[in-house]
Amino acid sequence: MSEDTNIDKKAKDLLAKMTLPEKIGQMVQIAHSSDTIPEDLKQRLREGGIGSMLNVTVPEINSEIQRIAVRESRLGIPLIMGRDVIHGYRTIFPIPLAQAATWDPQLAKECARAAAREAAAAGFQWTFAPMMDIARDPRWGRIAESFGEDPFLASRFAAAIVRGFQGDDLSAPDAIAACAKHFAGYGAAEGGRDYDTANIPENLLRDVYLPPFKAAVDAKVATVMTAFNEINGVPSTGNARILRSILREEWGFCGFVVSDWRATAEMIDHGFCEDMKDAAKKALIAGVDMEMQSSAYRDHLLELIEEGVISVKLLDDAVTRILRIKFQLGLFDRKPIYSAKPPETPEYENIDLAKKAALKSVVLLKNQNKTLPLSRKIRSIAVMGPLADDSYEVLGTWNRDGRVEDTVTPLTAIRNYLGASAQIHYLAGLESSRSANTSQFAPALEKARQSEAVLFFAGEESILSGEAHSRAHLNLPGAQDALIAEISKSGKPLVLVILAGRPLTIGDISEKADAVLYAWHPGTMCGPALADLIFGIEAPSGKLPVTFPKTEGQIPVYYAHKNTGRPPDKVSLTMMDSIPLRAQQSSLGDAARYLDIGYKPLYPFGYGLSYTTFIYANIRISPDKIRSGEGFKASVEVTNAGEMEAEEVVQLYVRDRTASLTRPVKELKGFERIRLKPKETKNVSFDLSAGAMGFHNSAMEYIVEPGKFDLWIGGDSHADLMAEFQIIE
Ligand code: NOJ
Repeated sequence: MSEDTNIDKKAKDLLAKMTLPEKIGQMVQIAHSSDTIPEDLKQRLREGGIGSMLNVTVPEINSEIQRIAVRESRLGIPLIMGRDVIHGYRTIFPIPLAQAATWDPQLAKECARAAAREAAAAGFQWTFAPMMDIARDPRWGRIAESFGEDPFLASRFAAAIVRGFQGDDLSAPDAIAACAKHFAGYGAAEGGRDYDTANIPENLLRDVYLPPFKAAVDAKVATVMTAFNEINGVPSTGNARILRSILREEWGFCGFVVSDWRATAEMIDHGFCEDMKDAAKKALIAGVDMEMQSSAYRDHLLELIEEGVISVKLLDDAVTRILRIKFQLGLFDRKPIYSAKPPETPEYENIDLAKKAALKSVVLLKNQNKTLPLSRKIRSIAVMGPLADDSYEVLGTWNRDGRVEDTVTPLTAIRNYLGASAQIHYLAGLESSRSANTSQFAPALEKARQSEAVLFFAGEESILSGEAHSRAHLNLPGAQDALIAEISKSGKPLVLVILAGRPLTIGDISEKADAVLYAWHPGTMCGPALADLIFGIEAPSGKLPVTFPKTEGQIPVYYAHKNTGRPPDKVSLTMMDSIPLRAQQSSLGDAARYLDIGYKPLYPFGYGLSYTTFIYANIRISPDKIRSGEGFKASVEVTNAGEMEAEEVVQLYVRDRTASLTRPVKELKGFERIRLKPKETKNVSFDLSAGAMGFHNSAMEYIVEPGKFDLWIGGDSHADLMAEFQIIE
């Protein structure tokens, strides 16, 4: 008997023994974070009335709850204990957006593996991660949890992280079930306001928003979570089109679907369901197997079955899917399952990994006159800014179980690095990133004057990004800009390190700085990673997984936009200031852009500098005429022309020049991280297929059309080294 058939049989046999209330119990998930277990909860567990719990972080309570479920309920079905292990459990890795900036899915997989080990020890068998919503609006706070704007990049991370959490064998004691979320279109919330409406034509949904989910399903993700938002009028939690037709029937997903937190109940507010009973009905019919936190299933499923509104078959299918995952996870055999023991301290290996990930995620945006790296012989340095020595804020959003005592801040790391060899003048200057108190401005300027260089750690606190933390203004909060401007009066080399959960509009303030490192929220090993980069032990190698806008008014701005009939790069643009007063209305010759800021973003997708220079040459495509079922190769030579060994992310983009539905001006189709010694040249070759050049037509069929394509290989999405190929009939 194959493993799958064996599991099917076990699930079927168990289902046959269950009463209707026990079946419904498996579909109920509730949160419990207190350090006691009330009698009514114990009773529900004994009755088999709960299938899963989340946030049970007190180890003794976690263990006792499992013990009651396994030992004292009639059928002894273990609970699947869930937790938001988003970018680490005890060891906090960089936020997902930062992990995407590494362009190193294998590394992200290792981080997820380490997080799974820690979380499993703490009594969790399920994480609500990875989040793979495509995010093209930096106002949306949850962009921090995403892999950025591109479906190809996000798909690679989604699959890798699923594999990392789940390991090679889901039943291994250190494997936890992953959860692909939020299905679907959550990142397309209007105006970047969390939870807001998404209107997405289905072909765009399929070409842009769904590919990471498909990749996660192909990587055998155990669970999927519905999104809070509606898509085109139908809330995701009641959306049979996406949950049944696409996810299950087309893609063959055979894990189970959980609603997001009270998302069933929220269908009433959406104006899609009349009451909780209606919500239970619509969610189950749509394909939601487990309800998180609200009680529509618990209170109404039995009644709906008794009334014949819902068939027992529908219920059985949902329960079977849940039981199958419980069997696959080996929950019935994990011995004993009720012995949660969170790690007392992060293991050395995990710390090391956290540093490596942080190091590779940092993006060098500006480095005028080779200000960075700073000389290791520096005698005096000013370390400033509200985030220079904050062991909490650098951990980022969704840090649930990491501890500040494990964090090494930039100040500590710089002190460790320089020891007694340099004078370190530390002054935060502002108590927090939001502070508007200017009382420390004069002493800050004084300290800058006393130093050979200034390092200023600016950014956003953790809580300013993440769920429910959208912002309309994306500047540095509080008086940070003003303080940086003040310090720049010292004339000393000024290095800005930005720690944030999203792209910030740092164009103006960057003008005051000589160098800018964008470090996101790097996690536990923030300080050591940054110190290595600042003093040149390693060269920065992160690349932006999302376009940086000049200003909020430019949003949405993403690299894979359409060309339009009036592309702005084809005409010379008149800027607002040079339009004569009382000029006659005229549109001739102008283009898709703004009068005041043009059309270019602050930094393009894929952008990131190094301490060395990489030269790209000899781009080749072979063969350059292919049929739709065929493969081909594209290659380029990359040379490290500088003096320092460094890593580069080589990126490959294509454009379908003419199609029956217009295509984006560029689409990422390949990338590879390479390491080159000074003066070394490497030939980087990509295996491509004509089949990957297609798109969904208006009948929702994936098609590959014959025609001419442009192909670029380079260090960012503005790469101009180009070759051509053709797909022939
Ligand atoms: C709501 C969030 O949207 C989801 O991502 C998270 O997993 C659940 N809450 C549980 O905390």
